[in-house]
Amino acid sequence: MDRPAPISGLTGRSVLTLENHTPEAINAVLDTAIALRGTRPWPPWLADQVIALIFERPSTRTRVSFQSGIARLGGTPMVLSSGDLQLGRGETVEDTARVLSRMVEAIVIRTGPHSKIRELDDAADVPVINGLTYEHHPCQALADAQTLRERFGSLSGLRMAYVGDGNNVCSSLMIMAGLTGMHLTCGCPPGYLPDADIAERSSARASELGGSVRLVEDPREAVDDASAIYTDTWVSMGDEESEAQRLADLEPYRVDDALMDAASPAVVALHCLPAHHGHEITREVLYGPRSAIWDQAENRMHSQAALLAHVLNR
Ligand code: CP
Ligand code: NVA
Repeated sequence: MDRPAPISGLTGRSVLTLENHTPEAINAVLDTAIALRGTRPWPPWLADQVIALIFERPSTRTRVSFQSGIARLGGTPMVLSSGDLQLGRGETVEDTARVLSRMVEAIVIRTGPHSKIRELDDAADVPVINGLTYEHHPCQALADAQTLRERFGSLSGLRMAYVGDGNNVCSSLMIMAGLTGMHLTCGCPPGYLPDADIAERSSARASELGGSVRLVEDPREAVDDASAIYTDTWVSMGDEESEAQRLADLEPYRVDDALMDAASPAVVALHCLPAHHGHEITREVLYGPRSAIWDQAENRMHSQAALLAHVLNR
């Protein structure tokens, strides 16, 4: 497998959201991800490169997929939690970024407020990759897009619905619709609508590629003619205090077989995981024949390895 050519605007750059990147760059990452999925062993594109993975919030998929993907590309992943770092005892984000930049080739971080990853990126001399903030989950959107490309071919004009809480996963999906020309309709109740500015910017970008981003309240309207229905937890990390209210408000937005039946006959279900059985998704959908969720989880490894291969393409 030949190493892809460096891409201006992606090689050597940070990825905090996908909004600063071009459709061409994202398509190149997806091409590489799909090629890696069909290749064993992987090429040693990250040989001699060390990548720090900082987790200030729990993670199964992001942590293991980055570790596994980096190791398979011949690199060295270094997993750190804030409890392992002086960051957890008050050392500044700026000083942490300066020191790590002298020792590793890239920093992946899962943290809370997006302002914190921006602060890290401002002080770092190496690329910083967002492994989830309260506002964005760009690596998830790459795996989502890979999964849809593998199922449906081109994403341009593909109809998909996001149903439930308009959270970080939803924001990154809207941005991905803007980069690929998908028709994305988000069905969310009042008070749970996704970020309006991101929706507007993504809609404008999507329309240049023949797609759209729409926000509606009715979940049935959202899934009409959709080839994919996506949902995520009703209680994201940081939202625990309002859990009871959220479960009550989002109850009509559960993805079950009846909602799947209201979409296109070829519809697939997507979920970033972890799933809360019987809340945002039923076990029947999660484990049923229309679920693409387990491929989607696996694709975290391919798409993030592909992203690093492009970002660290020296
Ligand atoms: N989807 C996702 O990011 O999962 P983790 O929280 O397990 O990393
Ligand atoms: N929206 C969820 C995604 C978890 C992977 C959260 O932020 O907790």
